[in-house]
This record gives sequence, C-alpha cells and structure tokens, in this order.
Amino acid sequence: MSKTIRSTIIGTGHGIPARTISNDDLAKFVDTNDEWIRTRTGIEQRNFVDLENGQTLTEIAIEGAEKALKDSGLKPEDIDFVLCATATPEAWMPIEAGRIQNALGLKNAATLDVNAACSGFMYALHLADSLIRSGSQKNILCVGGDVFQRILDWNDRTTCVLFGDGAGAAVITGVEADPENGDSCIIDSKVYGALDIENSLSTVEIEFEGKKKGVITMNGREVFKWASKCMAKSSLDMMKKHNVTTDDIKWFVPHQANIRIIEKVAEFLKFPMEKTFVNVNKWGNTSAGTIPICLSEIREQGLVKKGDLILVTTFGGGYTWGSMLIRC
Ligand code: UT7
Repeated sequence: MSKTIRSTIIGTGHGIPARTISNDDLAKFVDTNDEWIRTRTGIEQRNFVDLENGQTLTEIAIEGAEKALKDSGLKPEDIDFVLCATATPEAWMPIEAGRIQNALGLKNAATLDVNAACSGFMYALHLADSLIRSGSQKNILCVGGDVFQRILDWNDRTTCVLFGDGAGAAVITGVEADPENGDSCIIDSKVYGALDIENSLSTVEIEFEGKKKGVITMNGREVFKWASKCMAKSSLDMMKKHNVTTDDIKWFVPHQANIRIIEKVAEFLKFPMEKTFVNVNKWGNTSAGTIPICLSEIREQGLVKKGDLILVTTFGGGYTWGSMLIRC
C-alpha cells in the first residue's frame, strides 16, 4: 500500500504551577473535607498558579511548550503553526498561541487559539493532524491548558474542589506512514459536540468580594452521566472502526475529571486499571491540560515503546468530546 502523509508526535512537555493545595488546605476556606473529595472524585491535591502575583496560563503554557520543543529536537524556526487550546487565556488578545510563539521565538509560526472547554486539546490535535495530512503545514506545536482557578466560585463546593491549573504540549510533524503497516502516526481521531447550556459547564457572572466575577456552574450529576456515556461510546467506535481490542492497546488515556468516571468508562470498555492512565489524584481536573499532561508523563516515564497503541478520549463543557488512536 502506498504511503501517505500522516502526523506523528515527536515531543511532549508539561507545566504545572508550584503551589500545591491539598484537600485539607481547601477545607480551611470551603465547606468540604478530604474524605468527601477523595471518595467522590479521587482527587487528593491540585496545583494553582499565583494569581495574586500576576501569574497566568501563559507561564505554565510556555513551560510545557518549551519542554515539548526541546523533546522534539526541532529548532524554533521549524515550527510553522502554534495551536493553543484553552478556555482561560491570559486575555482575549493577544491570543495565548501568539504569546507562546513570541516567548519561544517561533518566528515562522502562524498562531491560533481554540476553545472546546476540557476537550480543547483533543480538538487542537484533531485540527493539527488534519492540517498536516492536507500538506498545508509540517510541524505544529499544540498546547492545551487552563487556569480554572480564575473562574471558580469558592461558595460552590460541588464544583470548586474539582479543578487544578496546568498545561501540556505536543509537537507533531508530518511523516510518510502507513497506519495499516504499523508505522508510527496518529491513526485516526473524531470529535463531537452537543449543546446543553443548562446542565453543561457554563459561566455566569456573580458578585464576589464586591466585584463582578465570571464563574463556572454545572450540573455535576448530568455531566457525570454524559461524560461516562460519551467517552465510552466514542472510544468503542474508534476501536471497532480500526478493529482493535483492549488487548492491542498499551494505554487508555481518558480525560482526568473524576476517578469514578474513569473507572466506569474503563470497566465498560474492559480496560484493566493497570492499563488506564490516571493522574487526577495529583493534579485534579486541569481542563484542556489533562490530555497533554498525561501524554507528556507517559513519555517522560518511559511507559511506551515504538509501535505501542494509545487510545485517548476526552469530554468537556458544551458538551464536547472525542477519541483518538495513536501508534507510538
Ligand atoms: O470536565 C468535566 C468536569 N465536570 C465534572 O467532572 C463533574 C462530574 N460530576 C461529578 O464528578 C460529581 O457529580 C460530583 C463530584 C460533582 C458530585 O458528586 P455526587 O456523588 O454527584 O454528589 P452530589 O452532587 O449528589 O452531592 C451529594 C452530597 C450532597 O449533600 P446532601 O444533599 O446529600 O446532604 C452535597 O451537598 O454531597 C454534598 N457535597 C459535598 N460535601 C462535601 C457536594 N459537594 C461537596 C463537597 N464536600 N465538596
């Protein structure tokens, strides 16, 4: 079979802010406790940027992007596109991708931000893969991250305990590859959407400490049901389409929102937890950051070798969701 241009991940990295907040730390100013958060979500701690001292998404996004670029072995001038997925950019303009481009001296790169809430990175990678397959771009830096701390309502204990700040990145490049022949590449991806403003994650304005603040609201139970169903169905469809089973897949990488959702989806798909990547206990839900942070940790910890298959699935506000099959 003739080889066509596909994309492959050649570098990953992540940036996590320095300040760790345990569940007990949260319980000092939120009506909650460690036991409830651990048993209902699997989260033990999360990290937050230093908002008071002006730290934003940009710093951790640049850290992740810089590590991914170094890991890829490419030079700054080789990158021709930067995509940044976030719902919490430092500002609407200049866009986050532009800030990253500028900081890393990616002088030949076009820049674009995308927002699909927690699914943003999957959408960005799906777009990047399509741009590379079309022959329009060669080397793309995809970044995903969020600072949800900025939009948390500390009086809404059902939501504010779930999130942490974090970012991750991947460099993808075009290669001649035949997925049927076992060559390394992104084999396939598909993204989906459905609108449910009432129950999904959305933002509203509240009065907080005398100022207007935009905060997240959501119907946790509805999000839980949708997330479990959509990640399971899109993963299954992806596996069926490519005739692969859980035995063929080295790592199942679901969006890190809640250990109970992860366990439910893994159980439905028959992935043992040993093959299911979990870091929600350490970082909480970093929204668009969860998938690139997982991919970066998997590579950093040497958990994959050439030829291994990874199945990624994600879910976010909107609703938005999708799955991707990658051969390392
Ligand atoms: O990227 C997607 C992001 N979204 C999500 O991950 C949300 C998905 N949903 C969930 O993870 C779960 O629905 C939650 C963790 C948000 C809530 O878990 P739940 O098992 O659905 O709890 P619940 O909302 O039904 O609340 C059960 C009880 C209530 O008390 P009563 O009415 O039974 O006395 C809540 O008031 O737990 C109480 N509660 C808490 N207690 C201590 C809710 N939040 C807390 C809290 N600490 N933080």
